[in-house]
Parts: sequence; structure tokens; C-alpha cells
Amino acid sequence: MTHALPDRLVDPFERSIDYLRVSVTDRCDFRCTYCMSEHMTFLPKKELLTLEELDRLCSTFVRLGVRKLRVTGGEPLVRKGIMTFFDGMSRHLGDGLDELTLTTNGSQLERFAQPLWDAGVRRINVSLDTLDVDKFKAITRWGSLDKVLRGIAAAKAVGMRVKVNTVALRNFNDVELFDLLSWCAAEGLDLTFIEVMPMGDMGEVQRLDQYWPLKDLRAQLAERFTLSELSYRSGGPARYFEVGETGQRIGFITPLTHNFCESCNRVRVTCTGELYMCLGQEDMADLRAPLRGSESDAPLEDAIRRAIARKPKGHDFDYSRQEVAGQMSRHMSHTGG
Ligand code: GTP
Ligand code: 5AD
Ligand code: SF4
Repeated sequence: MTHALPDRLVDPFERSIDYLRVSVTDRCDFRCTYCMSEHMTFLPKKELLTLEELDRLCSTFVRLGVRKLRVTGGEPLVRKGIMTFFDGMSRHLGDGLDELTLTTNGSQLERFAQPLWDAGVRRINVSLDTLDVDKFKAITRWGSLDKVLRGIAAAKAVGMRVKVNTVALRNFNDVELFDLLSWCAAEGLDLTFIEVMPMGDMGEVQRLDQYWPLKDLRAQLAERFTLSELSYRSGGPARYFEVGETGQRIGFITPLTHNFCESCNRVRVTCTGELYMCLGQEDMADLRAPLRGSESDAPLEDAIRRAIARKPKGHDFDYSRQEVAGQMSRHMSHTGG
């Protein structure tokens, strides 16, 4: 089935919205220091959209032209019954949806790799900031590196393409740059670095201290390797380079040093049905009320269209004056990145 042009979601800046990130839970079995405080209060379960409501919501987005669905969290795989949702969404693959995927911390992947593959998931992003056992424990507070590595191995074994997401952190994983690179090359994993964004209050000093601009990281890589820019796109904000010497692909997500908002194609929905038109702005639209208020999808479609019509131009994250600007009060786990 093809979608007629007038149905597509287009924002005020003529950007087509065809990528939906849906957070299915705000909970997580890790407590990454840059993402959450150790004692997070989570939403009461009754606030969450049910799996059926999530299905109806995402199916509506697919009908409106969304071609890529990324499931996020918190940690999406800790949501009870989550495979019901993936299995349901897989009916849209090849019929509106080009890609069904997730971003995960990898802790549950060993168990979920096969069912996810069976639901049509072919490529996943796994967050991994260090290969050092102790540092891994320190940054995730609760995580086990071994479990994540077993999860990645399981995903590879079923045939999935795995991309490792690494938040670039000064005084943390800067010393591991080449180790991470060669490990990913040896394992056949793509690797993407992300600049740390001011999501959730962590104290200004800490954010600025940990910020490692990717232009510095790239310059460091270029001392040893030949990087050539690729035209390859994964549908998200990353720009990719090939490392001549190893043949591997690495991506850079640079909200701070090089803004990519002009080509933004995405919106995100939280696990309570809030639609955020931008990761770096506070404005959102409630989709839970129209979803619950009517058996017809018309009010929901209408609410989505009205929200997209006010999608802002971009975020205002900025550290260039040695202070944190554009900070969001909500944590990354609220909107799922
Ligand atoms: P693929 O391109 O499909 O591999 O995925 P992706 O990069 O879109 O998604 P992923 O979940 O791997 O996100 C990686 C990082 O990019 C996360 O830290 C996200 O918060 C960040 N990111 C994704 N979309 C946006 C965006 O619109 N704005 C900003 N500032 N960051 C984003
Ligand atoms: N800045 C940048 N990336 C972040 N992530 C979590 N918090 C932040 C932040 N403040 C990353 C996770 C995961 C992705 C969804 O977002 O590590 O890879
Ligand atoms: Fe959990 Fe991901 Fe946040 Fe870490 S970054 S605490 S794995 S949601």
C-alpha cells in the first residue's frame, strides 16, 4: 500500500516526518550517571499506555506516513510483554513500515535477540560507553558488562546488524578511543559517537567537565587513520565516515558542534502518550486523551497533525560560552533519546 501525498506529515519547515521514536517505559535496569539519578522515581504503572494503546498509536503514525519505528525507553526490553508489541508492529513491515528497530542497553538481549529477529528486527543500536569492567560498573551503576557483551553476541548470532552507541565523555572514555574502535572492527560492529546533551539536571560543572566535542575526537582519530565521509544514512542524525585502514563505519552525532536539526525527520512519543516534537524543546502534545477518548482514530490523527504543525526549528543546546544553555528539565529516559 502506498500513502498518498496529502496524508504525509510535513512540518512548518517542509521537513517530512517519517521516523517515530516510541518510548515504551521510563524504567531501566541501569542507572547511567549522565542519564538518571540513582534514586529515580518512576511513573505509576497506571499512567502508562497499555500495549494495545501503543499499538494503536504507532499504527496511526504508520498510516500517516511513518516508515521507521524505533522502540526506546528507559530500557525497552524491561517492559512486561514487550514482544507482544513488537510482534504486532511487524505486520506493518513492508506495508508502510521500512524498519522496526530498537535502542537498548543490551542487558536483556541474550534472551530477546531471537524473538526480535522473528518479529523482523534486523538492525539494533546498543548503548556501550566503555569496555572496561570497572568503568562500566561505575557509569551504569547497576549494569554488568559481561551480560551486555553476551547480548551483543546473541544479536550478531541471529544475524542482526549491531551499532554501538557511545556517548563521548571526557576523562572517561577518551582514553579508550582506539580500543573501542578496534574492538568494534574486530567484532564487525558499527560504532557511533554521541555528544553529551544537557538532558535532566546534573549540575552545570559536571556536564561541561564531561563534554568531549566530537570535532576533537575526530581530530584524534585522524592522526592515526584516514577518514572519508560516506553518503550512507541510517535515517537518524548520524553522519558516517569510513576508516580507510580498517574498513569500518563510524558515525558522529553532534548536537553541540554541528547541528543537524535542519534535516530532522523525527518525533518521539513517551510511554504516557506525550508527543514531543523536538528532543531539545519543552513543547509537547497529549495523545493519550484523544486515544482514550474515542474509538475512532480521527481525533488522534487530528491531534498528531496539529502537533506536527508546530514542530520547532531545533534545539537550543549550547556549551560554547562555557555554560550550559538549552538545558531540558526532563531526563533522557523520559523521551527515550
Ligand atoms: P539510527 O540512525 O537508526 O541508527 O538511529 P538514531 O541515531 O536515530 O537513534 P539512536 O537511538 O541510536 O540515537 C542515538 C543518539 O542520537 C541518542 O543520544 C539520541 O538522543 C540522539 N538523537 C536522535 N535523534 C535526535 C534528535 O532529533 N535530536 C538530538 N539532539 N539528538 C537526537
Ligand atoms: N546525551 C547524549 N546521549 C545520551 N544518552 C543518554 N543520555 C544522554 C545524554 N545526556 C544516550 C544513551 C543511548 C541513547 C538513546 O542516548 O547512551 O545510547
Ligand atoms: Fe538506562 Fe539508557 Fe538511561 Fe543508561 S542511558 S540509564 S541504559 S535509559
